[in-house]
Amino acid sequence: MLREDIEKSQEYFTTTVALVTSELSGKINVMSAEWSLRVSLDPFLMAVFVGYRRGTYRMIRDSGEFGLSYCSDRQGHLAHVAGNYSINDVDKFQLAGFNTMKSRYIRAPLIDGAISCFECRVIDEFKVGDHAAFIGEVLTAYYDPEASPLVFHNGKFWKKGERISKGPWTE
Ligand SMILES: Cc1cc2nc3c(=O)[nH]c(=O)nc-3n(C[C@H](O)[C@H](O)[C@H](O)COP(=O)(O)O)c2cc1C
Repeated sequence: MLREDIEKSQEYFTTTVALVTSELSGKINVMSAEWSLRVSLDPFLMAVFVGYRRGTYRMIRDSGEFGLSYCSDRQGHLAHVAGNYSINDVDKFQLAGFNTMKSRYIRAPLIDGAISCFECRVIDEFKVGDHAAFIGEVLTAYYDPEASPLVFHNGKFWKKGERISKGPWTE
């Protein structure tokens, strides 16, 4: 039964987590973003929404590039570290085993073990409430057909469940 609660309702989205990588003046960073998605097919554009106080915000703004590595279900610990520690306080790459891969077109690396990765060049930035929206043109992308996605729901990480039928209206 539905309950009316504007705070609680926000815990009931189901998303995944992207590890957002950035690079500036030789320094690299990684942060978790639940709020990232495809926003155009042709051209192929991805959006990521970043809080203005994140170290990542300044790095993407000043470099004009970012990487998105969507977590597989073996990377919950990385999503946790990237999302709970800031480059302003600690070196996250020292803290946890982020294995990086060199990107082809951007300076920021990608994260190995992800289910899919996107190299993006910023073509637009605008303010959406309390976050910055970065729109990135996808320069190239990668996927691992054997990986399974990390599911983020109710503040916790989960594995994908069983496939369910679409019903009698499809083949
Ligand atoms: C699962 C998860 C999802 C998150 N999603 C976002 C997001 O979409 N946008 C955002 O600005 N911060 C998000 N955060 C918070 C940042 O990842 C966090 O503030 C991080 O420490 C920023 O790191 P930085 O200062 O090194 O950039 C998320 C955190 C977690 C744990």
